[in-house]
Amino acid sequence: MTLDRKNVRIDPRTPWLAGVRRLLSPMAGVTDRPFRDICRRFGADMGFCEFASASGLTYGGEATWRLVDTDGEQGLVGVQIFGNDPEHMATAARLLRDKRMDVLDINFGCPAKKVVKKCGGSALLADVPLLEKIVRAVVAESTVPVTAKIRSGWDTGSVNYREVGLLLQEAGVPWVTIHGRTRAQKFTGAADWDHIADLVELLEIPVIGNGDVTDAESYRRMVAHTRCHGVMIGRGAIGNPWLFAAMRAVDEDRPVPEIAFAEMCAVTCDHIRGEVTARGEKRGCLVVRKHIARTFRGYPGAAALRRRLYATVRSQEMIAILEEAAAAGGPLPAGNFSREET
Ligand SMILES: Cc1cc2nc3c(=O)[nH]c(=O)nc-3n(C[C@H](O)[C@H](O)[C@H](O)COP(=O)(O)O)c2cc1C
Repeated sequence: MTLDRKNVRIDPRTPWLAGVRRLLSPMAGVTDRPFRDICRRFGADMGFCEFASASGLTYGGEATWRLVDTDGEQGLVGVQIFGNDPEHMATAARLLRDKRMDVLDINFGCPAKKVVKKCGGSALLADVPLLEKIVRAVVAESTVPVTAKIRSGWDTGSVNYREVGLLLQEAGVPWVTIHGRTRAQKFTGAADWDHIADLVELLEIPVIGNGDVTDAESYRRMVAHTRCHGVMIGRGAIGNPWLFAAMRAVDEDRPVPEIAFAEMCAVTCDHIRGEVTARGEKRGCLVVRKHIARTFRGYPGAAALRRRLYATVRSQEMIAILEEAAAAGGPLPAGNFSREET
């Protein structure tokens, strides 16, 4: 059964948005170029870079600029910036003009102390006049459309996604993404999909829903509950880029495809190669670990496989271990390990 979604006004600057349903969230330390490419391979319509500090970009911080790793990237990609100073945000937008990107997203959702302490990220939900100044400053300087990612509000006493959503729409953003939690909730409890549904009904522009979609069923439920234009996936994609294939199957009304163990190994090998090219041998191997921790969860013998993979920071060794496991049809024959170990 096709999913029912609200009819929305598509900005003529982003005609492709009409077909964008499955987006990979920006995630610091996770959504770098190799991972974005892998997610697209399985059905993500769009990816976002890890958030970058506007001050870091303004002052030419090498590490910050490395986060905006989009040169030559194929497919839709957004860059995300955060900060509390309208001038720095405007400068960052100006400095990013030559970058390959389809939208420039502003982060109004990060709950991290070091970001909030400087009044960036979700702290701006508690200072709407400053938030508005920032949006207008970035819109004025950016050569690509500016989007925003918000939370429901600062805390339960100050839920203000309606006010912020209307302000953003009025400022000319082509869409708004909402994570249905307040800053105070951080990542606890459940995302409030009623907030997402309410914002979808309120705005004429598309709303992208975010929070707690982890499989085909929760994807179907979020769209049915909210009628949102698209869904952005964060944690559910870590170690599980196949989630996008499952979502695509839901969108195309097909059975959700099964992913063979050997394919998981092959994709993990590709990911290791990509990260090593992007970050160098040791960093590249280390960064894939957080994906490996999840990819093989639940397989008999997965704990032993992980231990072997974690024991090395040499990509050729990791790849050989994975190829051996794939050829054997699994980490170890089922039954050799207890459930707790997997
Ligand atoms: C490790 C990690 C890093 C994140 N980094 C960012 C970020 O850079 N920018 C952002 O807007 N949200 C960031 N988020 C929040 C996610 O994009 C997403 O909004 C949140 O995890 C809720 O969605 P989910 O339930 O699908 O994970 C991060 C989340 C995680 C777990």
